[in-house]
Amino acid sequence: MSSTEESQAELAMDYDRSNEIKAFDDTKSGVKGLVDAGIVNIPRIFIRPPNELVEELTQGKSTLHCPIIDLSGIEVQDHRNKVVDEIKEASEKWGFFQLINHGVPPSVLEGMIDVIRKFHEQDVELKKEYYSRDRTTRRVRYESNFDLYQSKTANWRDTLNISMLVSGHIEPEEIPAVCRNASIEYINHVTKLGETIFSILSEALGLKPDQLKEMECAKGKSVVCHYYPACPQPELTLGAANHTDPSFLTILLQDQIGGLQVLHNNQWIDVEPITQGLVVNIGETLQILSNHKFVSANHRVLANQVGPRMSVACFFIGAFAPPKIYGPIKELISEQNPLVYKEFTVSDYIAKFTSRPLGKSALDLFRL
Ligand code: OGA
Ligand code: NI
Repeated sequence: MSSTEESQAELAMDYDRSNEIKAFDDTKSGVKGLVDAGIVNIPRIFIRPPNELVEELTQGKSTLHCPIIDLSGIEVQDHRNKVVDEIKEASEKWGFFQLINHGVPPSVLEGMIDVIRKFHEQDVELKKEYYSRDRTTRRVRYESNFDLYQSKTANWRDTLNISMLVSGHIEPEEIPAVCRNASIEYINHVTKLGETIFSILSEALGLKPDQLKEMECAKGKSVVCHYYPACPQPELTLGAANHTDPSFLTILLQDQIGGLQVLHNNQWIDVEPITQGLVVNIGETLQILSNHKFVSANHRVLANQVGPRMSVACFFIGAFAPPKIYGPIKELISEQNPLVYKEFTVSDYIAKFTSRPLGKSALDLFRL
């Protein structure tokens, strides 16, 4: 094949791909719609490139475990100090940890998973009313692959997005009735837990406990409720591509199916589901604020023959509007720890992140 023919073939592939993506988007039924239609082979828009699939086969398996931290008794100073040390170490070395005894009642966790299933499994015609890619006017959106038109490979998942970017609040009537009450209850609990974690993280950075809260790190939020349908060819695709989060902090509730992995020392480690546990990870913008003391780890979700899998990520994104300038905290900069990042506003950061495919972090744009 001549190079002209090759580039023509590539163009033809690109052309087909964009048509196929558009056709998939137009169904407004997401990945679940494909599974309900009984497909046996996954459409090629979901198939990862051959080099990635080969790389996967040569990966070794690690025996390490993501840190598990017990929050019980943090009202007592000695225990709180121990938790601060544990969270500090996990945030520096892993950027990821799991929490147990975090105070969110089991019924609230179960209730949330239950209504996410109900939302995604309701009559598809009703669900379609929420289908939208309009981030500016739709605070509650159902979509599949926010980066469908930017990514090279689509992910095997659908998402209900509840965005509370500005005030951190949402009117109950805006949330679909099928998941309203349980979502509000979950959001209230997870907000409180987020504030507790920010105060522990402040101490872990050697700052006063209220510092990150005073910087309004917990103000704006986005709650994304994922549904990963069972996949007939899980080895060919991913539930979520390898990425870091564009938040200060993310609290994630996952069901018992599994599939979430964190990249640690260049190896993928399973973040094993813990009954009533919650996963916490440091996002890109806290990596900036901490001037690289804390790291935002890469993570991904495997596709699975078994499913559906449900998860709920609460991204704490900070003060979105009116614009507020964030940057590395000055107490954390010294001769030994020189300034690594530029200042940013959250709305600019998120706009840059979402204009790229999932997996292409915006951090490089803010490195000095
Ligand atoms: C995310 C994410 C993981 C999961 O939404 O950013 O990493 O288990 N989710 O769904
Ligand atoms: Ni993530």
